[in-house]
Amino acid sequence: MPEIRDDNGNSLPTEEVGCSLFKKYELGKLLGYGAFAKVYHARDLRTGQSVAIKVMSKQRILKGNLTAHIKREISILRRLRHPHIVRLHEVLATKTKIYFVLEFAKGGELFTKIAKGRFSEDLSRKYFQQLISAVDYCHSRGVFHRDLKPENLLLDENWELRITDFGLSAVSDQIQPDGLLHTLCGTPAYVAPEILAKKGYDGAKVDIWSCGIILYVLNAGYLPFNDPNLMVMYRKIYKGEFRCPKWTSPELKRFLTRILDPNPNTRITIHEILNDPWFKKGYKEIKYPIENEFEFKNSGQG
Ligand code: ADE
Repeated sequence: MPEIRDDNGNSLPTEEVGCSLFKKYELGKLLGYGAFAKVYHARDLRTGQSVAIKVMSKQRILKGNLTAHIKREISILRRLRHPHIVRLHEVLATKTKIYFVLEFAKGGELFTKIAKGRFSEDLSRKYFQQLISAVDYCHSRGVFHRDLKPENLLLDENWELRITDFGLSAVSDQIQPDGLLHTLCGTPAYVAPEILAKKGYDGAKVDIWSCGIILYVLNAGYLPFNDPNLMVMYRKIYKGEFRCPKWTSPELKRFLTRILDPNPNTRITIHEILNDPWFKKGYKEIKYPIENEFEFKNSGQG
């Protein structure tokens, strides 16, 4: 059988291309992939609507000791209903695989838009406001994302932000008696100094740090702490040593300095962010819809 490749030249498992899943979805092209999952575009055969399907191998989940992780991601996604968070429509499973049927974000990754050029300060603020609204919603429900970065921020058909990928997220029941989380996770350039210090950390403060990095990247078009040598990059993160590009307004510079404070105890809180004059400009508070529950379905196929 000839090997099938997607638009980016990645080889696809042939049994998944164009096939019908549970007679409900027709699988389309590969949208993205990580160490434990592949995400495909798919069409709901009943409604004709686009969805995104995250496919995970149960064997890999077992091998990677990730069963609890996946269960946690499902329970987290089921609890979250916010206009700037990708919705989980349903979870399906076969003997060998787990499928998350997710809302399809037509605009793709925010990251690819930044790669084409930095955003204006007003547009950076708009996306930052949407990000903070979603993060505040998560934190108020005891959920910390812990891997916020432009690759996990998608855009819908109206170019509005949607957070995805709660694969690393933690819920407050994982907090140790010292009130801190202890798992070393995240992506190096977005990782808060207290995570690097491996001393335990507050999930809310870590997410705020990552939001600061995202805001910097939106405005600058590049990372605040970067170096080909990982140790040099970590040293810069520890010291909170960054410079803003010349087009940054003094108000944004001051705000970024408060967010990218290497000391988590003095770092700005989400409450202070929501009340900051730079942040508040043109901010429309986002109303949360009523919570909903989805069923866990095991169709027994496969
Ligand atoms: N890539 C990863 N998840 C996605 C989603 N839900 N929509 C569009 N692209 C994606």
